[in-house]
Amino acid sequence: MKMARRIESLPPYLFVEIINKINEKRAKGEEVISFAIGDPDMPTPPHIIERLCQAAQDPANHRYPEAASLPELRQAIAKWYKKRFDVSLDADSEVLPLIGAKEGIAHIALCFIDPEDIALVPDPAYPVFSISTMLAGGKPYYMPLTMENNFLPDLDIIPENIAKTAKLLWINYPNNPTSAVADLDFFNKVVKFAQQHNLAICHDAPYTEVAFDGYRPVSFMQADGAKEVGVEFHSLSKSYNMTGWRIGMVVGNPKIVGALNTVKSNIDSGIPQAIQYAAIEALTGPQDCIQQHNAIYQRRRDLVVDMLNDIGLEAEPPKASLYVWAKVPEGYTSIEFANDLLEQVGVVVTPGIGYGKHGEGYVRLSLTIPDAGLVKGLSRLAGWRDTRNKFKAKR
Ligand SMILES: Cc1ncc(COP(=O)(O)O)c(C=O)c1O
Repeated sequence: MKMARRIESLPPYLFVEIINKINEKRAKGEEVISFAIGDPDMPTPPHIIERLCQAAQDPANHRYPEAASLPELRQAIAKWYKKRFDVSLDADSEVLPLIGAKEGIAHIALCFIDPEDIALVPDPAYPVFSISTMLAGGKPYYMPLTMENNFLPDLDIIPENIAKTAKLLWINYPNNPTSAVADLDFFNKVVKFAQQHNLAICHDAPYTEVAFDGYRPVSFMQADGAKEVGVEFHSLSKSYNMTGWRIGMVVGNPKIVGALNTVKSNIDSGIPQAIQYAAIEALTGPQDCIQQHNAIYQRRRDLVVDMLNDIGLEAEPPKASLYVWAKVPEGYTSIEFANDLLEQVGVVVTPGIGYGKHGEGYVRLSLTIPDAGLVKGLSRLAGWRDTRNKFKAKR
């Protein structure tokens, strides 16, 4: 069998490796507490599920979905953007529902990237930005996200020849994995950079609704001229605990939205319609579930950050996102530290290096862990500190 080079050069997807490790331990009968994956543990709110079940009973929804999705869903997305961000979108040409944001992020590379083309990709980052670039035959040019720059890419240090030839620039705020946030000044700067260098902006924004202490993240689409240069990916996964239903959207520049629709209509046959009705309910129904979930994440955030600081890891309480980004103790790489926690106390965290070279020195902990597991996980972290201190004292 002769496989394509693009498959042979791909690294395994980060979380597949982590899940395999967890499963190995569990198969040996060991209890593992995982802070690894950002998959909301709370159920989809009941009113959304009721609508889904009702729509599933209707034979009209048993057939192929309408091309480019139900117009009512596109309108619901446009209305949600207007209400939440005061951004006006044309529901027919500037909105496209997706089978989860990940699907659109993966496919949009096919709209821009020819072999050897460059996409500017943050490092560390959600791995799909670079992998989709590589699958399309292109090359990621990595923009370091460092604490000194508040985990924003420094656009001024991108070499002129790279900026001039790049086709696409990826950004993601609130950020995974660093949990950093961006303001409108930064987004305005990004628009100017895109105009200067004639490149497209893809902003990935699935965490705008997961925010704490009253903070309200902004949308890239609020920046002056954003619609002329780019699009924003969004998702119902994290806002409404709908990761399992697979539904998201891309909004913004009609040329880009149209190109992605062309790619998609040749590859997939749409989102199951019952799920589209559930999404309409989520976006147009009561929104109090968002605050309720955020209050729970905020409480967990405080417990996790306090414990991490207590055991000697530097971590700031994030303003938004589902993650705590913590510095590993001195003397460890991120993989060594993650392995040590797993072996010593059965706790799984994600090593920062998995998100890129500049993720080294950090681990990511997700707040999507039910309270009972969280309490156990935290006491195991305390146990890790105590064993380490005993070991140090003996030396
Ligand atoms: C930054 C980022 N983008 C996109 C996604 C995927 O979202 P969806 O579930 O809508 O595919 C995730 C999921 O963890 C993410 O962290």
